Amino acid sequence: MNYKLARSSYRHLVVGADSKIPLSNGKLTTAINFDNAASTPPFVSVMEEIVKFSTMYSSIHRGTGYKSQLSSQLFEDARSIVLKFVNADPLHDTVIFVKNTTEAINKLSYRLWEGKKKSVILSTYMEHHSNDLPWRNKFQVDYVQTDASGKLSLEDLESKLIKHKGNVKLVTVTGASNVTGYVNPIHKIAELAHRYRAKILVDGAQLVPHTAVNMKPKNALQHIDYLAFSAHKMYAPFGTGVLIGPKETFRQGIPEIVGGGTAETVTHDWVVWENPPHNEEAGSPNVMGVVALIAAIKTLTALGMENIDHYENQLTNYANLKLKSIPGITLYSQTSIDEPRIGVIPFNIQGITHERVATVLSNQAGIAVRTGCFCTQPYIQRLLAISPKHMEFYRKNVDAPRPGVVRISFGLYNDFSEIDVVAQLLERISKHPTTYS
Ligand SMILES: Cc1ncc(COP(=O)(O)O)c(C=O)c1O
Repeated sequence: MNYKLARSSYRHLVVGADSKIPLSNGKLTTAINFDNAASTPPFVSVMEEIVKFSTMYSSIHRGTGYKSQLSSQLFEDARSIVLKFVNADPLHDTVIFVKNTTEAINKLSYRLWEGKKKSVILSTYMEHHSNDLPWRNKFQVDYVQTDASGKLSLEDLESKLIKHKGNVKLVTVTGASNVTGYVNPIHKIAELAHRYRAKILVDGAQLVPHTAVNMKPKNALQHIDYLAFSAHKMYAPFGTGVLIGPKETFRQGIPEIVGGGTAETVTHDWVVWENPPHNEEAGSPNVMGVVALIAAIKTLTALGMENIDHYENQLTNYANLKLKSIPGITLYSQTSIDEPRIGVIPFNIQGITHERVATVLSNQAGIAVRTGCFCTQPYIQRLLAISPKHMEFYRKNVDAPRPGVVRISFGLYNDFSEIDVVAQLLERISKHPTTYS
């Protein structure tokens, strides 16, 4: 394909893709957003649906009025649309609406918590803090190793499952890395976990927006038990996230947050809790967030997740080729062209800090990227070979400039021509780093 001529046929589906923004010299330019791993802009369809639905919006679950009943119905029907989108089990699984992936994982960590008994959670060296910190204060956490290029070691996963002798409660792993873009083989990981009687949670924050996710493939050993994801990373930024898992998990015990909506009967002496998912959704739910999520799911489904995956892969391959050819750039993710990955590219330029590169990209070309460690510090410490001793230095010197990387991340509306713009500027920076420092 002639990459240069190819524009994203999805661009018109996204709000603000061609917005003009000011550069540091005051001139206006078309914004380039390469920070989609953080949050994506909304779909046009999402905004339209929000406006359309707002005429019928009302408080849900408790109202008797027509609008309240309609809103409640829509909210409840949304669960089966979500289940279908990721092929979860409509009979045994439940969809709990939360704020985001972070809340979803915290919620599950409370549900699986067994008090004093400390069973093992296997997390990995490539996790976002949101899939690491919630487990630390409730379980014994062990971390599956990554190899020299930062890819997850399935050998180490198996050896840790063996080492803990059936005491691993959960293997919790990211579906795709927000740092390197590597896509983990979640069904292989599920099979291994299940062989050793552990369950699996996939942190789908970076996976669900970019590839088709199948929680229940034919082989039952490969089933995904729990899945978490955020709507703001899939073109529906209205404060909703999702936790999916077996209803059974959420039946026993008391939810970590309780209040309105979670109880069926309350006296001063006892409480009968609601069934899942309602016992897990304390307070007035975010109806608009769910309306937005469903509109996004409908648009993504109509486009076809395979087509989106394919297009974003082409963008990533093209960008990788371009960046690799620039002297002075170090890329921190290595995949062959046929390896599954999402459109996330981490890099640094010799002779200039990651923060400065990002500032120059923004000031001179209106390009938004992200720099730093993206809430994935242990993984970045490994990729950059920063020793524990070195980290002690930063602990004591909180104002010292921190190591990190620059991250470019794609959405379906990005264009090849935008990659040309960033590559040209990066080439200039890398030729004269001191001029830009
Ligand atoms: C892999 C991964 N997991 C979890 C999260 C947390 O998502 P949220 O901030 O929506 O809770 C992120 C956010 O960037 C992420 O990239």
